Amino acid sequence: MKFFIDTANLDQIKEAQELGVLDGVTTNPSLMAKEGITGEDNIINHYKSICEIIDGDVSAEVISTDYEGMIKEGVILADLHPNIVVKVPMIKEGIRAIKYFSSIGIRTNCTLIFSVGQALLAAKAGATYVSPFIGRLDDISTDGMHLIEEIRLVYDNYGYETEILAASVRHTMHIVECAKVGADVITAPLSAITGLLKHPLTESGLAQFLADHAKGNN
Ligand code: G3P
Repeated sequence: MKFFIDTANLDQIKEAQELGVLDGVTTNPSLMAKEGITGEDNIINHYKSICEIIDGDVSAEVISTDYEGMIKEGVILADLHPNIVVKVPMIKEGIRAIKYFSSIGIRTNCTLIFSVGQALLAAKAGATYVSPFIGRLDDISTDGMHLIEEIRLVYDNYGYETEILAASVRHTMHIVECAKVGADVITAPLSAITGLLKHPLTESGLAQFLADHAKGNN
């Protein structure tokens, strides 16, 4: 399973990269705004900075919601770096845009997926990734993980190569459950990724080993 970090924060991307397990980055307009990155030039430069840190896929989201606008933006974003994946919303015009991008070799991430039908449509259009938002489904008392399972089943039934990129991952158990049900990729905040390191028995066990070592050396 691939690990992406879901942030536009350069320090956090560097920290995850240094851990040695990072395969890519996802961003969205809200995450860019959170870092204070506004204006077309600054946003473009920020994507370039991210691509300099990580040698892996970087999702860059279009803002337009009309077909022509999405195509124009997507081509500009894809030209920034070979690792850029154009993130397109799950709307009618977005599906048309994904089909076009797919025909000219531009890779895409279809975002804001909340149903199996949406994921099926995105795969048929040729999306490289689909991003089901599991945390936001959990937020409304719906089982986000069940959606990942259902998409996995449908994609496997027909051999779709579109990768399931579980998004809106909020904590470590989301990551573990995604691995169990066969998500291809998770994108998570740094805290959820580093949370996988933690276990009280590891901490107490290490403390004991070090204490015993120190006693033996006295
Ligand atoms: O990748 C999508 C993600 O950023 C949404 O996460 O926590 O805002 O639902 P969240």
